[in-house]
Amino acid sequence: MQGGNIVLIGFMGTGKSTVGRALAGKLEMDCLDTDAMIEAKMGIAISDIFEKHGEAYFRELERQTVEVISGLSSTVILCGGGVVLNNSNVVNLRKNGKLVLLKAEPETIIARLYEDETRPLLKGRLNLEGLQEMLKQRNSYYNAAADIVVNTDGKSVDSITAEIISSLFLMGNSEKRL
Ligand code: S3P
Repeated sequence: MQGGNIVLIGFMGTGKSTVGRALAGKLEMDCLDTDAMIEAKMGIAISDIFEKHGEAYFRELERQTVEVISGLSSTVILCGGGVVLNNSNVVNLRKNGKLVLLKAEPETIIARLYEDETRPLLKGRLNLEGLQEMLKQRNSYYNAAADIVVNTDGKSVDSITAEIISSLFLMGNSEKRL
């Protein structure tokens, strides 16, 4: 992708950070993470922002951050899991980016995050029932935003990045033919 961004979206624990960093390394692209940018701006952790200011305040910080990074190019952008819930974020990210949705089964998400304490929205919900409920609410947003969908269950980081690169390449070629 010449100059375009690669935007990783998906639920918490689907591997956006690990896969995104590996992808950026392979493609020699810059890599930015919306959550890390928000934490740097505020000087406190995401969980503290939720606790002190509430979710709506965090979502506004997230919207501002997405607006800024959407203007960049040649960057792998790692989005917090809730970014796609606001359509204006999706519109902004699409301007110069392809949106890659990473998916994982609830069992995989539990296995990946069972010791995690940084995600306020998973407090008391990191179980099959809790995750299924959240995924049910969010899946239509994720699917509608995605240009490419990649399942991550049981796959290595290397094979996931290879799959993303070949899908983007095929997509670029088919767009040229249209
Ligand atoms: C959230 C996902 C988190 C973080 C915040 C809210 C969500 O990011 O932005 O805790 O609403 O799904 P990760 O997807 O990187 O965990």
